Amino acid sequence: MLRKLNTIDFQSSKYNFGRTVLIRFDFNVPIENEKILDDFRIQQSIPTIKFCLEQGAKLVLMSHLGRPNGNVDKNLSLIPVGEKLAEILEMPIKFSHDCISDDAIEVSRSLKDGEIHLLENLRFYKEEELNDPKFASKLSSHGSIYINDAFGLTHRLHASNSSIIDNFSVKGIGLLIEKELQYLSDSLKNPQKPLTLIIGGAKIGTKIDIINNFLDIADNILIGGAMANTFLFSKGKNIGKSLFEKEKVKNAREILENAKKSKTKIHLPLDSTGSMNNLINKKDFTLKTNQIEDDMVIADIGPETVELYTSIISKSKTVFWNGTMGVSEMSHFSEGNNKIIDSIVSSNSESIIGGGDTISSITNYNKSFLSEFSHISTGGGATLHLLGGNKLPAIDILDIK
Ligand code: ADP
Ligand code: 3PG
Ligand code: MG
Repeated sequence: MLRKLNTIDFQSSKYNFGRTVLIRFDFNVPIENEKILDDFRIQQSIPTIKFCLEQGAKLVLMSHLGRPNGNVDKNLSLIPVGEKLAEILEMPIKFSHDCISDDAIEVSRSLKDGEIHLLENLRFYKEEELNDPKFASKLSSHGSIYINDAFGLTHRLHASNSSIIDNFSVKGIGLLIEKELQYLSDSLKNPQKPLTLIIGGAKIGTKIDIINNFLDIADNILIGGAMANTFLFSKGKNIGKSLFEKEKVKNAREILENAKKSKTKIHLPLDSTGSMNNLINKKDFTLKTNQIEDDMVIADIGPETVELYTSIISKSKTVFWNGTMGVSEMSHFSEGNNKIIDSIVSSNSESIIGGGDTISSITNYNKSFLSEFSHISTGGGATLHLLGGNKLPAIDILDIK
């Protein structure tokens, strides 16, 4: 059983230096010139922070940012995250430049109730990714209660979400992980039917497992984006110069074969739009799938595909979507993708969205639509890992069996 935040007695006097909660978040957000470009993951950490503050706790927050490989890189400092937290919470945030220095531990130990201390990027120490127990033990001296709420990192075992837990008797998951599991695990395992899975985008290799895992679970799987090109290629269709993944053609063929014996229906694009030779600032063609020629580049799903896909979506009770239907960052190739967004928003389905580019495509089309979806996942790799049918190891080790 996973221990949830609301089962922890924050008032207990047994903690050795007060109610100091050490929380692992995933503040791995895009930052350019010290400016946060997308604060979604930070915003999603706020309910856990507020919950703990309301219990009269003292908070020490830790995270990684980027991949500094054990080196200090000032471009990957968490200072902008601290400033953003201060702005959202309207309170000062203490900051330590070294996550395990004696000074940093002293700041944590002298916090007053309701104060927050943010530690610098954990990955400035190579020991973090090496899951080093000594480093984890040092980190653990920041708090007396441990909470993991870094959903985006749960597919990895690092010192701050793995070795560290051996140092705590009171440990559990935060509100974000609780919510992510509710939607990505509970809702999709016992979905309201019909369940439709929409898979697209370019990272085909990391998504093919999801399709396999949902054969027999989903009623329909709608495939778009460069992912669809790999499937069309596997069926012997000409995809011209379109992006596809050669090493995954065999997997795609197997999936289509398996689908014939399954209750799940896999749908591929009937038509597409695109340009000649390269992806350029002009839409050159709208053609049926079997009319594509050698010098053409497929860039979006066409109107017949939109009609088929939106009619399936409108009858669905649960929709999971990961991966854009086309090169939606180019406005002239975002039409098909935008129609899919419209259709999910106007359906009465429980809608669950994952994937950085998929979320950006919604933001670029109409930011106010973000609140129209039932759940938008903060996990990139973690979400794909879970929906590919795997356990999330950092959550599994917190599970008291
Ligand atoms: P997510 O970040 O939502 O998981 P991906 O990273 O897998 O999605 O894919 C998004 C990317 O896929 C976008 O950059 C988009 O340009 C690209 N893409 C989608 N369809 C095509 C296509 N037909 N040809 C080339 N690139 C495509
Ligand atoms: C993510 O952004 O997916 C997580 O923060 C994990 O980052 P990583 O892939 O660098 O481990
Ligand atoms: Mg992406």
